[in-house]
Amino acid sequence: MPASNTQQQPRRRFSPVRCVATCLLALIVVVGLAVLITWLVINPKKWVYTLESGSLQNFNLTNNHLNATFDFVLRAHNPNRRLSVYYDYIESTVTYEDQTIAFNTLDPFFQPHTNVSRVKSKLVALNLAMSPSTSKDLMIEKTSREIQVDVHYKTRIRLKVGRWKSSRRTLRIVCYSVTVQLSRYKHFDKVPCETEL
Ligand SMILES: *[C@@H]1O[C@H](CO)[C@@H](O)[C@H](O)[C@H]1NC(C)=O
Ligand SMILES: *[C@@H]1O[C@H](CO)[C@@H](O)[C@H](O)[C@H]1NC(C)=O
Ligand SMILES: *[C@@H]1O[C@H](CO)[C@@H](O)[C@H](O)[C@H]1NC(C)=O
Repeated sequence: MPASNTQQQPRRRFSPVRCVATCLLALIVVVGLAVLITWLVINPKKWVYTLESGSLQNFNLTNNHLNATFDFVLRAHNPNRRLSVYYDYIESTVTYEDQTIAFNTLDPFFQPHTNVSRVKSKLVALNLAMSPSTSKDLMIEKTSREIQVDVHYKTRIRLKVGRWKSSRRTLRIVCYSVTVQLSRYKHFDKVPCETEL
């Protein structure tokens, strides 16, 4: 008899704990399912960014100082049927051999679902001091009439689904190895860009 008593008492003492554990587990499963279903309904797809055109004007490199004007058009494709995007802040930089040579901030915009937008940017290097080695490389490339740069966009975005809006997060878009021509009428090869959220 004392043996069965000690067996029953702990079971009764532990049962509320087990109930809480079961409830918690059930809650986790329900919340998990809800998140999964929401995810499946929204069906998020990756945005696609392509640098569609780029040009370089007013190029002058004298005594390791650079003057140049870049024009770029970034094609932003939002393939999502339910997700729209607020671009609250956009900054754009051009780098050459990891040195920033031009910088600009762009106008914020709202991109609806299933939409293609074009983001234009003009970036100016004005009497920019360059390291002698970078300057030398740039001078060599200049003789070939084309220059290879990287184009970066750092954005702060919010997502919108129905009435719900997410908090702000940083989205980086990088277009590597963009070849810009010094002659105005040459062809521009489109560059697919990489993203990092
Ligand atoms: C480049 O700039 C230097 C210094 O400002 C100037 O003397 C030179 O004429 C310019 N060259 C061209 C091709 O504009
Ligand atoms: C760049 O432009 C500025 C203003 O127009 C001028 O003073 C400077 O000499 C130029 N520098 C080069 C390297 O052309
Ligand atoms: C994309 O959205 C912009 C801004 O609302 C609009 O001006 C443009 O016409 C839209 N483009 C397409 C292809 O829907």
